[in-house]
Amino acid sequence: MSQNFSDWMSDVQARVETALSSALPAAESIPARLHQAMRYSTLGGGKRVRPLLAFAAGEITGAAPEALDAAACAVECIHVYSLVHDDLPCMDDDVLRRGRPTCHVEFDEPTALLVGDSLQTLAFEILARQKNLAPARQVEMVRVLAVASGSCGMAGGQAIDLDSVGKPLTQPELELMHALKTGALIRAAILLGALCGDAMPDDERAALDRFAKRAGLLFQVVDDILDCTASTATLGKTAGKDAAADKPTYVSLLGLEGARRFAGELETDALNSLKPFGTRSQRLAELAAFIAHRKF
Ligand code: IPE
Ligand code: IPE
Ligand code: MG
Ligand code: MG
Ligand code: MG
Repeated sequence: MSQNFSDWMSDVQARVETALSSALPAAESIPARLHQAMRYSTLGGGKRVRPLLAFAAGEITGAAPEALDAAACAVECIHVYSLVHDDLPCMDDDVLRRGRPTCHVEFDEPTALLVGDSLQTLAFEILARQKNLAPARQVEMVRVLAVASGSCGMAGGQAIDLDSVGKPLTQPELELMHALKTGALIRAAILLGALCGDAMPDDERAALDRFAKRAGLLFQVVDDILDCTASTATLGKTAGKDAAADKPTYVSLLGLEGARRFAGELETDALNSLKPFGTRSQRLAELAAFIAHRKF
């Protein structure tokens, strides 16, 4: 693998930006305001960690880039929908996202609600219309993304999050909340990427799943740490919101040093899970390190 990690990342990010732009409805097509809001929320921002994970997992199974475009765009659409709804006044009530006004601030609340609804269905349309995979694979990918997004995945985690304001959770309770609200979609990104390529033996699938679960939890533990250590300007979203809203986080549970230590353990555990793949998992390993040490 000759290309360095940062060039690989930029290439995938640019590729996904183009694929998302063509998958989204044109800004001038009716209803134009909704379509503009969908494009505003989805394009031109974000780290694209889930698409990067899908492409990296695809390297393990020899997936074709065209199939990976669909997997990456579908999971990013669900992610952006979750952010638009997460920022609504009835949820976290945030005014800044990806360095710009949140969707309901730039447009209005009903539009933001419909942007989320529309991005959610667009995700499944993207998976259903792509032509590079056998139909049984496509159905499996739809199932994986649906479960990860719904009441036993992201939406369920958000419900627990909202219900936990002001309540101290035990570590297992907090882990479940994080595994659902954030981990489920990170895991789905990795599984979807792998599903775009050759079938995996059971032991490899189990190893990849262990990596995916550790990486998903790691992502949210680091999000908790950054919320109280990074600035609003660096994050592109309002810093210090978790403590202000009295949300249970790994920092409130373990303290800053405890949360950092736990993130280190998760990173090590995630990297160890990749051993069976050798060099095929180089990009996933690099992404785990990126997730653990990111600054925003
Ligand atoms: C933020 O996700 C919300 C969480 C699930 C923690 P990201 O940190 O991936 O946000 P973007 O996509 O880069 O804006
Ligand atoms: C968001 O968690 C999880 C989802 C959007 C599903 P947070 O509420 O911590 O995300 P940020 O910090 O607003 O990005
Ligand atoms: Mg939230
Ligand atoms: Mg939030
Ligand atoms: Mg957060």
